[in-house]
Amino acid sequence: MYGKSLTLLVLALSMATASPVEFVERQSEDPFHSPPYYPAPKGGWAPTWAASYKKAQKLVEQMTLAEKVNVTTAVGWMMGRCVGNTGPVERLGFPSLCAQDGPLGIRYNDHNTAFPAGITTGATWDRDLMYERGKGMGAEAKGKGIHILLGPAVGPLGRQPRGGRNWEGFSADSFLLSEASYHTVKGIQDAGTQATIKHYIANEQEHFRGDGGSNDTISSDIDDRTMHEVYLPPFAAAVRAGVASVMCSYNTPQINASYACENSKLLNGILKDELGFQGYVMSDWLAQRSGVGSALAGLDMVQPGDGNLWADGNSLWGPELSRSILNSSIPVDRLNDAVTRIVAAWYQLGQDKDFPHVSFSSWTFNDTDIEFRGADMGRVMLVNEHVDVRANHGDIADTVARDAITLLKNENNVLPLSKSDTIRVFGQGAGNNPEGPNACPDRGCNIGVLTQGWGSGTSQLPEDLIAPIDAIKEIAHDVEWYKYDNVTAEVKKMASARNAKCIVSITADSGEIFITVENNVGDRKDLKAWHNGAALVKAVADSCKNTIVLIHSVGPIFMEEWINHKNVKAVILAYLPGQGTGYPLTDVLFGKVSPSGHLPYTIGKREEDWGDVGIVTEGKGVIRDQFKEGLYVDYKWFDKQGISPRFEFGYGLSYTKFQFSDLEIEAVRPLTEMPAPPPARGWTPVYDTSIPPASEVAWPKSITTRIPKYIYPYLGNATDVQPGEYEYPVGYQTDPQPAPIAGGAEGGNPALYDCMFRVRVTVKNTGKMTGKAVPQLYLEFPKGIVFDTPIRQLKGFDKIQLRPGEKKVVTMELLRKDISVWDVVRQQWILPQGGRNGYTVHIGHSSRDLVLKKETPKLA
Ligand SMILES: *[C@@H]1O[C@H](CO)[C@@H](O)[C@H](O)[C@H]1NC(C)=O
Ligand SMILES: *[C@@H]1O[C@H](CO)[C@@H](O)[C@H](O)[C@H]1NC(C)=O
Ligand SMILES: *[C@@H]1O[C@H](CO)[C@@H](O)[C@H](O)[C@H]1NC(C)=O
Ligand SMILES: *[C@@H]1O[C@H](CO)[C@@H](O)[C@H](O)[C@H]1NC(C)=O
Ligand SMILES: *[C@@H]1O[C@H](CO)[C@@H](O)[C@H](O)[C@H]1NC(C)=O
Ligand SMILES: *[C@@H]1O[C@H](CO)[C@@H](O)[C@H](O)[C@H]1NC(C)=O
Ligand SMILES: *[C@@H]1O[C@H](CO)[C@@H](O)[C@H](O)[C@H]1NC(C)=O
Repeated sequence: MYGKSLTLLVLALSMATASPVEFVERQSEDPFHSPPYYPAPKGGWAPTWAASYKKAQKLVEQMTLAEKVNVTTAVGWMMGRCVGNTGPVERLGFPSLCAQDGPLGIRYNDHNTAFPAGITTGATWDRDLMYERGKGMGAEAKGKGIHILLGPAVGPLGRQPRGGRNWEGFSADSFLLSEASYHTVKGIQDAGTQATIKHYIANEQEHFRGDGGSNDTISSDIDDRTMHEVYLPPFAAAVRAGVASVMCSYNTPQINASYACENSKLLNGILKDELGFQGYVMSDWLAQRSGVGSALAGLDMVQPGDGNLWADGNSLWGPELSRSILNSSIPVDRLNDAVTRIVAAWYQLGQDKDFPHVSFSSWTFNDTDIEFRGADMGRVMLVNEHVDVRANHGDIADTVARDAITLLKNENNVLPLSKSDTIRVFGQGAGNNPEGPNACPDRGCNIGVLTQGWGSGTSQLPEDLIAPIDAIKEIAHDVEWYKYDNVTAEVKKMASARNAKCIVSITADSGEIFITVENNVGDRKDLKAWHNGAALVKAVADSCKNTIVLIHSVGPIFMEEWINHKNVKAVILAYLPGQGTGYPLTDVLFGKVSPSGHLPYTIGKREEDWGDVGIVTEGKGVIRDQFKEGLYVDYKWFDKQGISPRFEFGYGLSYTKFQFSDLEIEAVRPLTEMPAPPPARGWTPVYDTSIPPASEVAWPKSITTRIPKYIYPYLGNATDVQPGEYEYPVGYQTDPQPAPIAGGAEGGNPALYDCMFRVRVTVKNTGKMTGKAVPQLYLEFPKGIVFDTPIRQLKGFDKIQLRPGEKKVVTMELLRKDISVWDVVRQQWILPQGGRNGYTVHIGHSSRDLVLKKETPKLA
């Protein structure tokens, strides 16, 4: 009945539960207490946004209360054509803003590009490709009339290798993740679409994410230094790139036992004051828990508008926001700031000029539909115009997918293949889902080539998707495919073909918790290849001397059962290539290009290797997950514990060889313990703050039919509402906080981005084939400092193409932020011991294959 939305809606409803949960600012002996931070800082003071705020002010000062409420509250689930639709201010020409998933392209659409997933993009280690992919996504969104694209995702980071949505982000390393965040946001926004950096913050697992009003929710308990050095940097990078929107999370809805969308420390304090965020905070879909509380804590926009239940129409804002203004609980100033932030973002992205209209519906592929899907009523209208927005983006998707492919093993140069080889392919994942590539809603199955995980972060694939087997058959002549995952006599027979090269396709999938696939409830239940892939690999390898394992996966999988089998000659990791699956893969398999991807995470041998970071699957009430490993996530943990991974972070082979030499480090600035003080903040808009007359939110006579469950800003009994005493949270104040010393501009104190050292290294292709090298810079902090710091941390990388014999000098800059630690007492980034002792710079092919090192010099 609801076409493509049916599954989603039904699943969503089945999860939906509670009534409003009261806003509580907890205060106790709890060591992980979230301190109050009030009031919400106003936006507009950063020079980069001042012009947009001036325009916004002119519009907002003309708005009535109902109009302001419209801008902040979406109209309800499935009441508009996008997954989120705010109320318009028709009188002043401000439109309903269309917000649409997601991080790898447009969800619920057609004639669009399904780009490779974030994790695939991270594996390219290529900033230009990160940008181009972002720009392609932004252009497609704008072309469809989408104002706000709900991506990129940089939380989860991937602390827990089984985390269901890790693949939506780019890397388990904060530095690589931050670079991807910055360049993706730039790309999306340069194309004229507002990017949304999400999910803020520390939403590392799906279980107990607590949407739909669930009372059993996980709290990510994180100390302040770990927050600043591990989880915050990708958000800081997005803010520095000028991101328009930040989505507060419901995954891990609580941080230090305070809900992410009403955590004043995180929203008012860290995001808006310290990071200088000038855009607006948007709730994840049903992540809001309180009306007044979330507004005071810094939330600016509510999606999809409904309160604690999907599609119930009982908003915590909407009419209740109108009431909270009339009864004086929310200062008018706070609402003005929220509205101004949203309107300013619209101007900042140039969306006030010639912006395309919304030309699709999320709820049907039919051309026509009723206007209000969520109320099952309304006139029948044209909803899908099938606008083709793909341009050359297929090439970008292919290039990203190809340059991500990571060669993990290649004995006796079994790869590349030759087209005259006898090729036997095993595993259903080498071909298309027989029902079609989009047969499972939100990609909620693991049948056919695995191109994406499942959930809201997915996109429709082309129906004529070229799967690996299709592309292989176009090149080689003697190809046979065993299209199952089970081990049968047929496997042995095929694998025994004379001189065969055997490709075994195995997979591991995960996704969002609203769909369970093969007993994986969003998060993975283990790190094994699915469908007993290890057994298939072993069965093939027992008979085939040249076995090549092809992996499509959301993250690390165990390989111990087969990696040392004498016949497993090659292992190739293709991640989640989106639509860039068949040809990019054969480009590498047959040696048209040399593989150049490198691991964006560590592959361990057993789950304990990662430390105590399994998925929390049991508990009641507020379930506390202490991030005890602190800074030691992924390879930093393996290094500290002296655990040998199967393949380390940064690892990736090539068909050619690269040599690094002539490491030079130039001191650029004197090392002072603290950065220069930040600049003073600029102007912010000032408005009349008197409480408007109740008539501004009275039901207009022009609305004769009220759509059931539709969220309007109006109040039936508005004139009854009187100002009253509100019990404000502990620590609530209206006087502005002093400007944080670590703040001062978008992304924090601009001095943090000063270059302190310039590092040069010569990279030479000493092999026989053109290829792309990824020189990686790992920084070791000075010995003897009082700050416990990971042994080595990625702080620089580049990706360059070289012909055989060619060499180039690569320059990498170490910025103040890269060589600083977060001092929790001083609330400041500092150079330990005033930078008196030198840092050691390591250059390597991976986090463990380090070939050059040098100590940083003093400025003469
Ligand atoms: C699409 O159109 C078909 C044929 O008219 C109809 O049966 C179906 O219900 C429609 N689907 C949706 C989601 O409206
Ligand atoms: C959650 O707690 C609230 C308040 O105690 C209660 O009304 C509601 O029924 C609970 N929800 C669930 C799903 O248990
Ligand atoms: C969480 O608790 C830790 C430990 O008390 C504290 O250092 C940190 O600032 C808190 N963070 C947030 C966001 O509340
Ligand atoms: C608020 O938005 C609704 C549509 O969601 C629209 O009908 C109404 O006119 C808007 N109200 C105002 C005051 O602009
Ligand atoms: C004002 O209205 C809001 C929204 O309904 C409510 O939560 C709050 O308690 C009210 N304040 C007073 C003082 O009545
Ligand atoms: C192997 O899987 C295929 C496809 O699911 C099925 O047709 C076949 O019967 C299975 N064979 C065995 C031995 O399980
Ligand atoms: C107005 O109506 C709402 C909903 O009917 C009710 O909850 C609220 O208490 C009323 N407010 C006043 C001030 O009467």
